[in-house]
Amino acid sequence: MRPTLLITGGSGFLGKRLALALRDRYRVVLGSRNNKLNAAAQQMTACEVIPLDVSSIEAVRDAFVETRPSIVIHAAATKFVDLAEKQPMECVDVNVVGSQNVARVALEHGVDTVLGISTDKAAPPVRNTYGLSKALMERVFASCNQKNGKTRFLCVRYGNVAWSTGSVLCLWKKMHEKDGVIGTTGPEMRRFFFTVDEAVKLVTTGLDHAAELQGKVLSRHMKASLIRDILDVWVKHRGGRWEKIEGRPGERDDEFLIGELELPYTRETTYDGITHYVISFNEKAAAPLTRGLSSANTTRLTEEEILRIIDNPPPEEL
Ligand SMILES: NC(=O)c1ccc[n+]([C@@H]2O[C@H](COP(=O)([O-])OP(=O)(O)OC[C@H]3O[C@@H](n4cnc5c(N)ncnc54)[C@H](OP(=O)(O)O)[C@@H]3O)[C@@H](O)[C@H]2O)c1
Repeated sequence: MRPTLLITGGSGFLGKRLALALRDRYRVVLGSRNNKLNAAAQQMTACEVIPLDVSSIEAVRDAFVETRPSIVIHAAATKFVDLAEKQPMECVDVNVVGSQNVARVALEHGVDTVLGISTDKAAPPVRNTYGLSKALMERVFASCNQKNGKTRFLCVRYGNVAWSTGSVLCLWKKMHEKDGVIGTTGPEMRRFFFTVDEAVKLVTTGLDHAAELQGKVLSRHMKASLIRDILDVWVKHRGGRWEKIEGRPGERDDEFLIGELELPYTRETTYDGITHYVISFNEKAAAPLTRGLSSANTTRLTEEEILRIIDNPPPEEL
């Protein structure tokens, strides 16, 4: 019998993609709050779904009792930066308390592996509530590793997943279709971008190497782009124009994949020919990284790569 894998936040953009990628290897169960979205995710992935609110420990216990997962991918989160600045309590309830609940119940049930999805916004210097909430998730998971002598906890740290829910690409597409004018809050901002296939692959790499990555955060080399460069490519190939609009709370010019403070605790490694980074919060690396990794000093996306991202929005149902 295939082992059971529960994906919290399974009805989301990433959750559905993970389900499609993993359903041959595991019995995949998707758990989120909105039952209409759960039903749509079930139809799209042919996986089981279960109503689940991670901010309620009783609901997490119910879901674990019913599904008996051996692996949990914790993707449930509220992830809108400006919303979390205005309503930080919801962000703490879902991203911090919710992650704690998943960790506690996973320990109670002796789950084999729990993998949390984090963000570059969690790397120091943290600039917003959302980033803080994910930084806490990383720490909570690292500290829970093997607390019951069995359960392995790890996280993966992402940049922006192109075309995911709330992505600037989705917003720009809508604006462009409406009147040909794209409003941007930060043409001078630089952002890491990677595809949803690369995002899924980082999770499977984490799961495949969970024995050596337990208690740690895994990230990988990612290219970045100046927002202005993406918009220039967009209007060059699609017409229209872009303009600067007022900024939103919590934004920062550059993102850090690995912050300066994390350098002594971070090592480089290679999986499948790609440079990856492994952060261990309280254990100094024998051969640490010497330079912080930010969207300012990583490789830039070329015009061709930007165009490939712009030209490949996912099908509507994703
Ligand atoms: N997309 C990116 O660019 C990116 C970058 C870095 C990190 N991440 C992380 O990747 C994960 C997935 O992101 P995504 O792009 O797939 O986001 P998404 O499409 O917004 O999906 C989030 C999912 O979480 C669920 N959720 C929210 N609150 C919940 C709760 N209290 N209990 C259970 N489920 C809850 C949502 O469904 P309901 O609201 O119906 O519950 C939804 O299914 C998140 O943890 C996010 O922080 C994403």
